[in-house]
Amino acid sequence: MLKYIKKYWILCLLAPLFMVGEVAMDLIQPDMMADIVDKGVLLSNFSLIVTVGIRMILTVIIGGIFGILCGVFANLAAQGFGNDLRKDLFSKIMNLSFEQTDKISTGSLVTRLTNDVTQVQNMVMMLVRGFVRNTVMFAGGIFMLYRQSPKFALIAACGLPLVAIIVTFFLKKTAPLFAVVQRKLDGINHIMQETVAGARVVKAYVKEEYELGRFDNANDELCTENLRVQTLLAFMSPCMNIVLNLCVVAVIIVGGYTVKTGGSITPGNTMAAITYLAQILHGIMFMANIFQTFSRAKASADRINEVLHCPDIITDGKMKDKTEQNGSVEFRNVSFAYPGSEDHKILENISFSVHQGETLAIIGATGSGKSSLVHLIPRFYDVTDGEVLVDGINVKDYTLESLREKIAIVLQKAELYSRSIEENIRWSKKDAEPEEIKKAAQIARADDFICSKSYGYYTPVTERGNSLSGGQKQRISIARAILKEHEILIMDDSTSALDLKTEADLYQSLGEEHPNVTKIIIAQRISSIRRADRILVLDNGTVSAIGTHAELLEQSEIYRDIYNSQLKEGGNTK
Ligand SMILES: Nc1ncnc2c1ncn2[C@@H]1O[C@H](COP(=O)(O)OP(=O)(O)O)[C@@H](O)[C@H]1O
Ligand SMILES: [Mg+2]
Repeated sequence: MLKYIKKYWILCLLAPLFMVGEVAMDLIQPDMMADIVDKGVLLSNFSLIVTVGIRMILTVIIGGIFGILCGVFANLAAQGFGNDLRKDLFSKIMNLSFEQTDKISTGSLVTRLTNDVTQVQNMVMMLVRGFVRNTVMFAGGIFMLYRQSPKFALIAACGLPLVAIIVTFFLKKTAPLFAVVQRKLDGINHIMQETVAGARVVKAYVKEEYELGRFDNANDELCTENLRVQTLLAFMSPCMNIVLNLCVVAVIIVGGYTVKTGGSITPGNTMAAITYLAQILHGIMFMANIFQTFSRAKASADRINEVLHCPDIITDGKMKDKTEQNGSVEFRNVSFAYPGSEDHKILENISFSVHQGETLAIIGATGSGKSSLVHLIPRFYDVTDGEVLVDGINVKDYTLESLREKIAIVLQKAELYSRSIEENIRWSKKDAEPEEIKKAAQIARADDFICSKSYGYYTPVTERGNSLSGGQKQRISIARAILKEHEILIMDDSTSALDLKTEADLYQSLGEEHPNVTKIIIAQRISSIRRADRILVLDNGTVSAIGTHAELLEQSEIYRDIYNSQLKEGGNTK
């Protein structure tokens, strides 16, 4: 995290310098006050009162200017630091593998990106401003106190260890609680995200009360932890105040006694000493605050570092150049298990190849591993054993960017963003002409329904595409994939919500318009895939059969079963 502060080292140096100036001005004040009392008021020297008074006002003004400059520089440093850190963290989060995001959870990532960064940012601010201020205040205060009288310094020397003990005690108690508070905040964010995203399900099952209860519990837990921290801290200030006041009483007694017995201490000295004592102890209290912010920020910094230092699981290869082939895919003895459940193989010894321009369909029961299989091609996950090759080269040898540039994928769950339909489609090709977008939508059979909307292509899509039907979302996702320049098109059950006629039309124009693109199409209905060049039947993670529709009807029992069951259901398999 130091590297983020390094960039602002000049500001981090300037701010404390001005702070030293401000504190110096604060420290001179009581001394001048002592002069006014001893030499002005007690000796009725009016002109001295005026001149010292003017000097005091000037020091206040200069101190104020220093203070403002310090504040500006400290803010520039802290805001810049927070901004850089947040950007890097976001970029890292975008590059995390699915395995890592699943493990940390979205809620926690949101807390880390927002609240945790703010905590660390506050610490930088505190360090740059407060740390210097209070160290100088403390050391300078002791020095000035000593100048008033060594006896006063001795009183402070007795009180300080007590204060140190109090501060250490409370900080030790609260430090571990800060990590707990942040975790509780994760919990709240997690529930909020799930419930808001799944609001329709919550309402449909009339589970508002239940979800409210879950939220209340999480909220109560956060409150309890926060209360524990704050209660502990609430004890700290009064305890320190007691010590402060004891020291003040001691100064008054010693000062009063010495003045009375004609010793070296004047009433002005005693007055100044009380102010210095207050300054010293306030310095310590602020230090305690800084330590508190520090331990809070330490908990946050650890959580941020955990994300920043996540190892890159899916790492870049070196291959960037164009390949000789365009769009072949080959699986060689591929086995795959999800990270964390290595003993449960989802795919086992899969081998097949698809050549350029070919359409391969994949069919199989739900949970047989179809989605997992295609996710290995753009390296959403890496194979456990074996190799996946694109254009004859292992996918791990490509840079992720050059590999993913070759592939357009329509995921099983259509994800849209809250912008217009046009922007959602254009997302895959920033500089696309309006005609290209329309063409892609036409192939995806989306143009008709888009044009029938009141704002056409500029109709806004609400969050996650909630304002569209399932079939409409699927078709916009398909248009988005088609618009992208690609060699391989993967469609994961992406036409399941379309009627048979629309689906058939869609596949037909896809074949006509993009004959050279290799297509891997997952579907549940035989009608969707019977015209594919070859069909792969996946059974419980293994390739059960591969061939044309006619071949499979003859050779594959599983395929025949699926075919017959769909015939019985009255589905049109023609
Ligand atoms: N992210 C994941 N982590 C762990 N297991 C998963 C994950 N995604 C899917 N699975 C498991 O992998 C198996 C195959 O899932 P999937 O490939 O989605 O099947 P299909 O697409 O054929 O319905 C299922 O048993 C599922 O529970
Ligand atoms: Mg699937």
